[in-house]
Amino acid sequence: MFESFEKLPDDPILGLTVAYNNDPSPNKIDLGAGVYKTEDGNTPIFEAVKKAEAIRLETETTKSYTPISGYPDFCERVQPLILGDGHAAIGEGRTCAAATPGGSGSLRLAGELINSWKPGTSLWVSSPTWGNHTPLLGQAGLNIKEYPYYDRDGHGILFERMLETLSGLGPEDVVLLHGCCHNPTGADLTPEQWQDVAGIASERGFVPLVDFAYQGLGDGLAQDARGVRIMAGNVPELLVSYSCSKNFGLYRDRIGALVAVTGSRSAAEAALSHMKVNARRLYSVPPAHGAVLVATILADTGLRESWEEELDGMCRRINDLRALFADTMKKKGSPLDFDFIKSEKGMFSFLGLEKEKVRRLRDEYSIYFVDNSRINVAGINPGNVDYLTDSILAVL
Ligand code: LMR
Repeated sequence: MFESFEKLPDDPILGLTVAYNNDPSPNKIDLGAGVYKTEDGNTPIFEAVKKAEAIRLETETTKSYTPISGYPDFCERVQPLILGDGHAAIGEGRTCAAATPGGSGSLRLAGELINSWKPGTSLWVSSPTWGNHTPLLGQAGLNIKEYPYYDRDGHGILFERMLETLSGLGPEDVVLLHGCCHNPTGADLTPEQWQDVAGIASERGFVPLVDFAYQGLGDGLAQDARGVRIMAGNVPELLVSYSCSKNFGLYRDRIGALVAVTGSRSAAEAALSHMKVNARRLYSVPPAHGAVLVATILADTGLRESWEEELDGMCRRINDLRALFADTMKKKGSPLDFDFIKSEKGMFSFLGLEKEKVRRLRDEYSIYFVDNSRINVAGINPGNVDYLTDSILAVL
């Protein structure tokens, strides 16, 4: 078997981190994977996480398996975090949640669930979308199709064209939407646009699957949940794929959730039973460590406040960095206007550079970002912005 394998290329996103770490250049800049960084390039552990870990160390009495759906307290607390406290569907028992190995695990579980409903279901993703959506969901058996989304020249959303495509779909389709901080473009739907999409979803009967991996890093926890909450209030059925990697900084601990909003208590129970059967086939039982930390933080007023404050600081800093980059480019007389970056949300934006220029920046200047010219804004800081902007100007 192994003799027949040819070595495959590194992952187009996570492979960049490895290449960056191996680069000896003192000027190197990592704008690759969607990981938050402080001014000195570190990805910090939240204070609240540290404290929750100390509590866990003291109080944990077993390492036995959790249920297949994961640590129950996490599954309970993550739902109001996403849907809002007192959401009717939660009160009526019409929702369910399974903890998953990160956001990717929840997407794959969603894919398996959808495929076990109707093999080869068409799953519509935005053009462009996160580079791992198609491999993750396509390998689950889904038929990946695209709807128009981002206008690379105008740096906006092709909303009319998006609606036109969605209006042609029906109850056999599933549509993947980015809850906030669109990956890779940073271009988010407005609440009014979410309302329109929700209207079309309920009229046409397709099931929305919201990938919600960056709650709190766009405009704030509640603001970033507006879209998913509009959906939950307006469509009969909804899937949400959630990640705690970024907003709790638990990347390597792999904790996310798959949440379903259904029409009845019995449908929610059935949905959960299908999630469990699919999870058992995929990975059996999800990791518990991150789930216990998140549940501990959400249950404790002090820890929750500390977490929210730190997250809010990150969110504001990312927005400041957007302005720092765009303003610096302008000050240096850039022939291209990067002001659009200021109004985009979350960690990512497209610079709009051709692949050949992206590669030159990587090879000649040790500046790492994805080939499609997606940058992780959180990797910029006042110490590297001059080198970054000078280098971009040199290749433009
Ligand atoms: C990203 O898009 O950079 C992150 O979601 C990390 C990943 O797994 O690709």
